[in-house]
Amino acid sequence: MGYCAIDFGTSNSAIASSAGADEASPPVPGGPLVLAPVEAGALTLPTAIFQHAEDGTRAFGRAAIAAYTEGHEGRLLRSLKSILGSRLVDESIHMGDGMVVRYLDLITSFLAHLKTQAERASGAVLDEVMLGRPVRFHDDDDLADAAAEDALARAARAAGFRDVAFQYEPIAAALDYESGLHREELVFVADIGGGTSDFSVIRLGPERARHADRSADVLANAGLHTAGTDFDARIELWGILPLLGYQSTGPTGRTVPHRVYFDLSTWHLVNSLYLPKRIAEIEQMRYFYGEERLHRRLMRALRLRMGHTLLGQAEEAKITVAGGADARIDLGALEEGLWSLLAEDRLLDALGEPIERITRIARRTVEDAGIKPAEVDAIYFTGGSTGLGFLTGQLAALFPAARPVFGERFASVATGLGIAALQRFGSPGAGARPRPRQST
Ligand SMILES: Nc1ncnc2c1ncn2[C@@H]1O[C@H](COP(=O)(O)OP(=O)(O)OP(=O)(O)O)[C@@H](O)[C@H]1O
Ligand SMILES: [Mg+2]
Repeated sequence: MGYCAIDFGTSNSAIASSAGADEASPPVPGGPLVLAPVEAGALTLPTAIFQHAEDGTRAFGRAAIAAYTEGHEGRLLRSLKSILGSRLVDESIHMGDGMVVRYLDLITSFLAHLKTQAERASGAVLDEVMLGRPVRFHDDDDLADAAAEDALARAARAAGFRDVAFQYEPIAAALDYESGLHREELVFVADIGGGTSDFSVIRLGPERARHADRSADVLANAGLHTAGTDFDARIELWGILPLLGYQSTGPTGRTVPHRVYFDLSTWHLVNSLYLPKRIAEIEQMRYFYGEERLHRRLMRALRLRMGHTLLGQAEEAKITVAGGADARIDLGALEEGLWSLLAEDRLLDALGEPIERITRIARRTVEDAGIKPAEVDAIYFTGGSTGLGFLTGQLAALFPAARPVFGERFASVATGLGIAALQRFGSPGAGARPRPRQST
């Protein structure tokens, strides 16, 4: 029996266990955990499931996205973690052809898939898990937040884990950063991923790393449910969906109903638009549109089930612009010759409000920690969305004396959870220790 650590991310997931990514290296009992190869040698897996309609089988990760892109009959599910903090957590999704699946069972099957991959790599049965969690699953409802953690624990147990512990994702990232430190530092950690932005203020150092109980070192944790998937939604609403009628007006001068556009631009709600009843309702809405072709494009997007494709295009454009180039979004599948351009000024306009919200919570984390921003020695960035230079620049500006450090964007949390797993499960009697998670 063995233990592992899982970073179940909104966009990408990873699992750390005691075997090397190199299949030739044997597992080292009590040794450091390393990321297991989860798909064709890759150490991270897109958090995606494709449920095939024909035979009910499921594909995971890149294979799931490929099944959708190749046009197989079935449903693609992404951003499953966002379900945890929402009212959908104990609900089911209609997959078409009468097939109904509980969201939580989908999460269970994804965790079980990760477990199987790591067991294959480590050659051991893994029945204890250190799971990462955002500081807040739900921004302002403590009960919903607790219910989300409980739901994730239930999914993990259903996936075959006997013992389930949690650690905050930014604390995990901090432990990863600390493993390379030679002196003590006061660190501000910013983990900005797909679903949440999470912050911690923590004292790190080689001496402190030796202690099992780190509660005195953690000065503050805070987080919010705003990150990369929200950026994608804003970009789609600003740069793509107006071409499908969003915010257009009808013959009487009234703006067309907007709910369809919000669902279309929300990763975990896209599928709800493909139910025959919903399609029929939206078809009827054509009378609300002043320009019939806008509605025609919308209907085409729904009939071709292009929801995830459009969101993927918004995401890709975001990453292109983050890399310094303008992005041309090709919408030829909706209408010949149709396209949209995303340049940096437009991206800044679209993301200004959520980035402001993220910065506000970052500032509050420092206030909660009771320190002066100038005391912070380093700001440690991790998570995919820290690829946005204007976001990290705005956060770095909060700390006049801090050195910005960029970690392994997609691996730091999982690696740090591995350190937390080793502390929790790795030594004799460790199971009796208090959970390492710190509270705010
Ligand atoms: N170069 C880039 N620039 C900006 N954003 C990027 C870049 N690369 C990836 N992203 C975004 O990063 C996000 C995924 O990051 P990450 O894998 O850290 O999230 P996650 O761990 O799955 O989510 P969370 O921790 O919030 O549950 C996606 O929204 C993706 O679009
Ligand atoms: Mg993450």
